[in-house]
Amino acid sequence: MIIQTPVHARFTQLVKDNGRVPVSNPLKVVDGRYEMDYEQLERCITEKTKILWICNPHNPVGRAWTAAELQRLGDICLSHGVYILSDDIYYGMVYSGVSYTPIASLSKELSQISITCYSPSKCYNTTGVNQSFTIIENPQMQEKYKKSLHKTDLDYAINIVGLAITEETCSGSCDGWLKDFMVYVKKNHEYLTEFVKEQMPGASVAEADSTYFGWIDMRNLHLPSEKIADAFLNEGHILVNDGAALGTGGEGYIRMNLACPRDTLEMGLWRMAKVYRDLCAGEV
Ligand SMILES: Cc1ncc(COP(=O)(O)O)c(C=O)c1O
Repeated sequence: MIIQTPVHARFTQLVKDNGRVPVSNPLKVVDGRYEMDYEQLERCITEKTKILWICNPHNPVGRAWTAAELQRLGDICLSHGVYILSDDIYYGMVYSGVSYTPIASLSKELSQISITCYSPSKCYNTTGVNQSFTIIENPQMQEKYKKSLHKTDLDYAINIVGLAITEETCSGSCDGWLKDFMVYVKKNHEYLTEFVKEQMPGASVAEADSTYFGWIDMRNLHLPSEKIADAFLNEGHILVNDGAALGTGGEGYIRMNLACPRDTLEMGLWRMAKVYRDLCAGEV
C-alpha cells in the first residue's frame, strides 16, 4: 500500500496493523508549496501494489489537491490497476477561493476504483461521537467493504447522535459557519508565517490552502524533531507534533494546530520563540 508522507501517523500504523506493507511516496516541496511526486510514484508501484492511500486535503502539509493534480494521479493508478483510498476528512476545511475536489468525482473510471472516507469530525469538531462514512460506487468493492465491517461488528448499532450531526452538516446548513471559521484559520496561518519569519530566523512555514495546520520547517536547527517538540513542551508548555512521526519527509519539521483564538496563538508563539532562540544557542 502506498502512502504519501509526511502524513497523519495512523496511516503507516494502520497499514502495518492490517498485515500490509506501507511504501512511501514522499511529497516534494516546490517553491515553498507541497506537490505530489508522480515520477517517484511510478517507481514505487510494483505487481504487489494494491492501493494508493491519499489524504485530501492533506494533513499535515495543508494542500487541497487540484483536479489537475488528482487527474494525473488517477491516470497513473488506472494504468497500473491500483485502487485509491482517499481520506477526505478535511473536505470542508479549505481557504476561501480554494476548491475541494474528490478524486472519485473526476470520471466514471476513477469512481469505480476509489473509496472516499468522510466524517464531520474535523470540520465540526465532533470526533467524540465516533461517526464517519465512506462513498464506494463500485458494487463489488461495496460488498467487500460491508463484509469487512461485519467481521469486526462495525456495522452494528449506528450512533444516532452522530447520524443526526452527519445529516445536518451534509445538508449544507452549517456551511456558513465553516466558511467563516476557515477565514479565521487562514488569518492565523498568515500570522504564523509572518511571526516565524520575524521571530524564528532560519525556520519557515509551508504554504497552505487548507486544513488548520501550520507545518514548520526547522531543519536549520539540525536537531531531531522529537527533541524540538519536547523542548517546546517542556520549556514553553506548548504541545506541537514531532514531524518525524509523520513519516519520510517529516524529520526536522513540527506541526501546529491553528484552530484557536488569535490571542492564544500569539501567546503560544511568543513562548515558542523564546524556546527556539534557546535551541539555536544550544541552551536547551
Ligand atoms: C487524515 C486523518 N484521517 C483520520 C483522522 C481520524 O479522525 P478522528 O480523530 O475524528 O477519528 C485524522 C485525525 O487526526 C486525520 O488527520
